[in-house]
Amino acid sequence: MTAALLAGMTPARLDAIAPERLPALLRLMPKAELHIHIEGSLEPELIFRLAQRNGVTLPYADVEALRAAYAFTDLQSFLDIYYAGASVLLKEQDFFDMAWAYLEKAAADNVVHAEIFFDPQTHTARGVPFETVIKGLNHAVHRAHAELGVSAKLILCFLRHLSEEEAFATLEEALPWRHHFIGVGLDSSEVGHPPSKFERVFARCRELGLHIVAHAGEEGPPAYIVEALDLLQSERIDHGVRSLEDPALVARLAAARTPLTVCPLSNVKLCVFDDLTQHNIGALLDAGLCAMVNSDDPAYFGGYMNQNFVELFAAQPQLTARHAYQLALNSFEASFVDADQKRVWQHRLDAVFAAG
Ligand code: ADE
Ligand code: ZN
Repeated sequence: MTAALLAGMTPARLDAIAPERLPALLRLMPKAELHIHIEGSLEPELIFRLAQRNGVTLPYADVEALRAAYAFTDLQSFLDIYYAGASVLLKEQDFFDMAWAYLEKAAADNVVHAEIFFDPQTHTARGVPFETVIKGLNHAVHRAHAELGVSAKLILCFLRHLSEEEAFATLEEALPWRHHFIGVGLDSSEVGHPPSKFERVFARCRELGLHIVAHAGEEGPPAYIVEALDLLQSERIDHGVRSLEDPALVARLAAARTPLTVCPLSNVKLCVFDDLTQHNIGALLDAGLCAMVNSDDPAYFGGYMNQNFVELFAAQPQLTARHAYQLALNSFEASFVDADQKRVWQHRLDAVFAAG
C-alpha cells in the first residue's frame, strides 16, 4: 500500500493508533458501500413475513429451516436459493420494506453512501412490473436521505445467464425510469457468460450516459476482467479478486485506479477462499489497487458492512489502521459522487481517525 494514496492522515499518525482501538474504529469510520444486491439483504424473517402477507408458499417450514439451507458450495448453489427467496416480493411496499431494512442497517454501520444493485429481471419474469420494483426502491432511497442521513443510489443489473435480447428488453422497460438509477451492472452466474455477451447492451447504456460496472473475476478468470474493461468499459470491477493471477492486469488496474468492490464474507461463503485468513484483500491493497470492503448479499453471507470489516481484521492481524483508513478512503474515491462530496466524507473520516 503506497503512502501517496493516503489523504489527510499521515502514515505516522495512523501507525500511532493502538491496535486495540481498531475494532471500534472499523465500526465508527464513515464508509461507502458499492456492492450490495438489495435482494441479497432479504433476511429470512422478512422472507417469511412477506410470504405470509402475499400468500406465497415457501418450500421451507420456517425461518430456521430456510437459514439451514444457507450452506453454499459455489456461486450457483447460492443463486438458486437467492432467486427463490426473492419470489415473495410482489408489491411496491415489499420492495420498500426490503430496501428500508437494509438502509437502516447501513446507517447503524456508519455507511454514509450506498450504491445499490437491483435485479429487475428476477421480478419482471414473475409478472411484477418494472414500475413496482423501481418505485418501492426509490421511495426507500429518498426516505433514507431525509430520515437516516444516508445517501443512496440505484444500479440496475442485467442477469448474465439470460440473453442479450432479454437485457435489451429490460433496458427498454427501464428507460421511462432512467433518472431513478445511475448505472448498470452485470451479475448472476459468471462462468460461461463472459462480458462479451453483453457488449452491445453496454454500448447502448454508455450512450445513455449511465455508469458501467460489472461482476468479473469472482469465479471467472482474469480474462473476464479484461473483457469487462475493454468491451464494456466498466468503471469498476465487482469482486475482481482473481485479478492477482495476472500481473499485467494488476499493473493496469493499479495505474488506472480501477476500483475493485471486494466482498470478504461472500468470498468465503461461496468458497472462493477457504477462510478469511486466506483472503487476498491485503495483497490487493499492497499492490496499489483501489479495493474496498462490501457485503454483497449480507442476509445470506453472515453479515453487513461492519461485520465484514471486523471479521476480516480479526482474521488478518497484519491489517492495520493504515489499511482500515485506506479501505474507507477507497470506498469514497470509487463512488459515483462529485469531488466536493468525496472531500466532505474524507474530512469526516479524518476526524474519526484523528480522535483515535
Ligand atoms: N447476484 C447476487 N450476488 C451475486 C454474486 N456474488 N455474484 C454474482 N451475482 C450475484
Ligand atoms: Zn455481487
